Amino acid sequence: MTTDVQVPEFKRVYPREVKLGNGKTLTMRLMSYTDIDLVLTFAKDLPKKDLLFLRRDITDRHNVEEWVRSIEQGKSVTVISSEGDKIAGYATLHHNEALWTRHVGEIRTNVGADFRGMRLGSILVEEMFQLAKELGLRKLTAHMVADQKAARGAFERIGFTPEALLADHVVDTEGRTHDMLIMSYDIDGFND
Ligand SMILES: CC(C)(COP(=O)(O)OP(=O)(O)OC[C@H]1O[C@@H](n2cnc3c(N)ncnc32)[C@H](O)[C@@H]1OP(=O)(O)O)[C@@H](O)C(=O)NCCC(=O)NCCS
Repeated sequence: MTTDVQVPEFKRVYPREVKLGNGKTLTMRLMSYTDIDLVLTFAKDLPKKDLLFLRRDITDRHNVEEWVRSIEQGKSVTVISSEGDKIAGYATLHHNEALWTRHVGEIRTNVGADFRGMRLGSILVEEMFQLAKELGLRKLTAHMVADQKAARGAFERIGFTPEALLADHVVDTEGRTHDMLIMSYDIDGFND
């Protein structure tokens, strides 16, 4: 399934093919309401330990519908990469609505277990980077649980650095608290 979302403010073209290091070819496209069922299937297949830390429970249709609404309202943009009808991963760029932090965007990303370690996370984060530049954002952040090594690796790879560590700031679905790491990148210094 391929959606053909027209978002005129982006120069980047979707759908588009991307090649992973292992020769696999995936399609990248902008998420729309037609992706709701595919996203629910993707979320339900995520490793159990990742489901512990989801900011919002995307195994719940209501929350995925809310997510699509925020895309339609221009509050966020999501790029999905897929192999046929199977979502391999996604990344979202969430614009900050508060007046004094309107230059900041937050990236959230998730790669399915079958597609990890193939550089897809890095490719998706870089894609968000380009969209953020087009949107005129000047700073990007990513929030993660401090011991999520893969997440830190994916963001460090393209130049994010740790900015803050908030003690016991995340509580997982089983009630345990974890430190939150906020990584950031200053876009003004980035060139193509
Ligand atoms: C974080 C995530 C998106 C990374 O996706 P991925 O496609 O596997 O990542 P990549 O293949 O691009 O790897 C990126 C870097 O992380 C490193 N990495 C990947 N998995 C790792 C692991 N389990 N432990 C340590 N490092 C790891 C890679 O070696 C690579 O670093 P390098 O370039 O220095 O070799 C994925 O693990 C995920 O979806 N995690 C759950 C959700 C999450 O944590 N999201 C981030 C918060 S927004």
